[in-house]
Amino acid sequence: MDNLVIEGGVPLHGAVRVSGAKNAALPILCATLLTDGTCTLRNVPALRDLETTAALLRFMGAETTVTPPVVTVRAGSLRRPEAPYELVKQMRASVMVLGPLLARHGRARVSLPGGCAIGARPIDQHLKGLQAMGAKITLEHGYVNAECARLRGATIPLDMATVTGTENLMMAAALARGRTQLVGAAREPEVEELARVLNKMGARIDGAGTDVIHIEGVDHLHPMDHAIIPDRIEAGTFLVAAAATGGDVLVEGVVPEHLEPLAARLRQAGVELTREETGLRVRGEGGRSLRAVDLSTAPHPGFPTDMQAQFMALMTAVQGTSVVTEAVFENRFMHVPELVRMGAEIEVRGRAAVVTGGTKLSGATVMATDLRASACLVIAGLLAEGSTEILRVYHLDRGYEALEKKLQPLGARIRRVRGGA
Ligand code: EPU
Repeated sequence: MDNLVIEGGVPLHGAVRVSGAKNAALPILCATLLTDGTCTLRNVPALRDLETTAALLRFMGAETTVTPPVVTVRAGSLRRPEAPYELVKQMRASVMVLGPLLARHGRARVSLPGGCAIGARPIDQHLKGLQAMGAKITLEHGYVNAECARLRGATIPLDMATVTGTENLMMAAALARGRTQLVGAAREPEVEELARVLNKMGARIDGAGTDVIHIEGVDHLHPMDHAIIPDRIEAGTFLVAAAATGGDVLVEGVVPEHLEPLAARLRQAGVELTREETGLRVRGEGGRSLRAVDLSTAPHPGFPTDMQAQFMALMTAVQGTSVVTEAVFENRFMHVPELVRMGAEIEVRGRAAVVTGGTKLSGATVMATDLRASACLVIAGLLAEGSTEILRVYHLDRGYEALEKKLQPLGARIRRVRGGA
């Protein structure tokens, strides 16, 4: 397993370009199952989760070539419409093959994902929606077995704005007979992006980006050629790292509107953020020149749960006390004990973490527990005095393309140690 070693205390300077969005690329790769022609995806990030998805598509019999940033998929006649446990356990987003398989092949067998480091994360809303469209669903031996001759459109009220649930159902409804309405749908930019791609393939979807999505089913979808939107969470991670260390960084190739919920909080904390022609620029003194702000995570357009851990690393350095509430997942504070080991003052009270800012972190050996917690520890390491070693960096590699290689040109003293503890 690889580790990262960081010598902290260096303000970041320069420009960095963000890669394509992981959470847009994953559902779009699943959408290639809706057609038998060759789809070409561009601006695909080189990430472990993308490799896992490609492995899953190949397992099912789809011809898949991965030469980042380009991926092609031809899902002609599939050998087995199935997502096995071995792959789903590595990446729960694999459940998004359920909707497309059922819609195009009439049956699917997909392993139940089980819980994960950040919460129980059930898929009841995905299943409820497919059942409303006429699918017969049974749970057996840890697998979801679903079948239906042809799905039919339905009005589906979602109990919560689930991102992958909305995406799964949108893909299923694209090939259903008649009209589907998803009420209480997720509004994330990645949901909008998937709708854009499905419409390119001949689907008839409107309302994506609002909480009611209308899908008029069609008989057939055709292949597409599409460049994925930039990753707003990767971009946000650079913005927060730059704000925390002080310095001057231009984060290039972003869609500023996608970053607005984060940008609003950064500005509130006193971070100077400007829009430039090629991206967003952060300038400042970092740490004690900034002030504490409270926040609560929420579905888009609220503050993204995927930025909560990184923002908390910033809050350890600023003046004052902030209350960070995690309202989307029930267990997403795994980074807190690690930050505390580095000298942070944080107390968890239920779903809230009270962060007393103004502490100088000191480098330590810490353990990454999930993707965004890992990114938080990288920021903490950049802030800290002395050397920080982050173990289990494979979590980071699931969702950040060559993070250390992008940070090095900004002046960060960060290196990867291959095959560490
Ligand atoms: N939920 C249910 N039942 C369902 C679906 C969701 O109870 O059927 C609950 C979840 O347990 C959670 C809440 O609803 O408490 C929201 O979960 P959601 O379904 O929106 O999450 P997701 O679709 O599984 C995606 C991202 C996550 C991101 C969340 C929230 C992808 C592949 N994953 O997950 O990304 O945190 O939305 O924005 O799009 C990450 O990139 O690090 C990551 C975890």
